[in-house]
Amino acid sequence: MAKSVITFLKAKKEGTKLALLTAYDYATAKLVDSCDVDGILVGDSLGMVCLGYENTLPVTMEDMIHHTRAVARGVKNALLIGDMPFMSYQTSLSDAVRNAGRLVQEGRAHAVKLEGGARVLRQVRAIVKAQIPVMGHLGLTPQSVNVFGGFKVQGRNQDVAAQLLDDARRLEDAGVFAMVLECIPEELATRITEAVAVPTIGIGAGAGCDGQILVYHDMLGLYSDVRPKHVKVFAEAGQLIQQGIREYVAQVRNSEFPGKEHSFS
Ligand code: KIV
Repeated sequence: MAKSVITFLKAKKEGTKLALLTAYDYATAKLVDSCDVDGILVGDSLGMVCLGYENTLPVTMEDMIHHTRAVARGVKNALLIGDMPFMSYQTSLSDAVRNAGRLVQEGRAHAVKLEGGARVLRQVRAIVKAQIPVMGHLGLTPQSVNVFGGFKVQGRNQDVAAQLLDDARRLEDAGVFAMVLECIPEELATRITEAVAVPTIGIGAGAGCDGQILVYHDMLGLYSDVRPKHVKVFAEAGQLIQQGIREYVAQVRNSEFPGKEHSFS
């Protein structure tokens, strides 16, 4: 049965772990969706792993809709979540609702994700009121990279930890169906997970979360610009791809490819 926000809430109640991945195109979406993941996020991380930007800030609504629509064509089972890019929800409530609506209507997402706690509660409420499920995102929220002074673990000091716990409770109260906890200490993520009734999805937040998410390119060794500590490479697909490409180049150069079987008479 296709997954929905109900699947997520049920998983929390039953203590079943949720497995999510990102995807950014049709072929990848089909691969990921065929492996029984619970959710596929078209993350604004696409700015880094697909478009080659140094952070997620240049990503636009047009980029997100373009990629979300492509992924949607390949997804049959997972819950599809579209990420709201920088400046698509910070500017006003009407921008937030309109842009969330575009990810659903034009991108065919089932839900949207946006970054932040107390400062985005009004946006979360307005989008939820428009009948669009919202996933929260706390901790190392990459759209705040310039405020954090880099991609740094958040919540190591007590004040920030207390703020994150409060943000999580307030996001739950505003109606999110789940929240991502990114790069925060494991103990804090576990406390947040115990404090809220919606599932927490960790990335660099330890094993106490209700589920996990990784960036597709990271967990398959396809993106070598950075390899953060929280990333486990489950298959060195990047090396396998290079091996295939080198073999192709060699076979073209020595006239081994194309053979008769790849040619038309
Ligand atoms: O953009 C993204 O891929 C994300 C995940 C890392 C949670 O926000």
